[in-house]
Amino acid sequence: MKHDIRLTVNGDTYCLAVEPWRTLNEVLREDLNLTGTKLGCGSGDCGACTVLVDGRSVSSCLTLAVEMDGREILTVEGLAPSGEDLHPIQESFIEKGAIQCGFCTPGMEISALNLLSANPRPDDTEIRAAISGNLCRCTGYNKIVDAIAEAGRRMQPKKKQPTR
Ligand code: FES
Ligand code: FES
Repeated sequence: MKHDIRLTVNGDTYCLAVEPWRTLNEVLREDLNLTGTKLGCGSGDCGACTVLVDGRSVSSCLTLAVEMDGREILTVEGLAPSGEDLHPIQESFIEKGAIQCGFCTPGMEISALNLLSANPRPDDTEIRAAISGNLCRCTGYNKIVDAIAEAGRRMQPKKKQPTR
């Protein structure tokens, strides 16, 4: 039997009927066509499926969609809603060479946002801890750490110039 749920995803509200066994990852990718969120291991180990739910990072592969009724979800598509102006995290990942195959990138960027929202100037140890649940098979992580540190600097509010 399907259950009616109401989700807000990247600012848009959706009313859906979903089977109780379907995951948030399946609903995002298959019902809403938001395929930026990846499915890797399907068991909570790789972080490729990471999204924010009410501002907290979760593995969408382990989260039942029916539990998301009334929740606000942010996926990687929500970082650059216009599709033109990239988020500072995305700009930094590109400029620092932190993307190779790109499979881990959506989850990495969501974890980066989760970190930088709480701690805008993390040190390397804090960045590595924040992405410890996100596996990357390509980059060796150093460029990702550099990109997240750079994104934090870019996301700082600009200091006002003193008036004379
Ligand atoms: S696909 Fe969810 S943690 Fe790997
Ligand atoms: S860029 Fe390929 S897995 Fe990270």
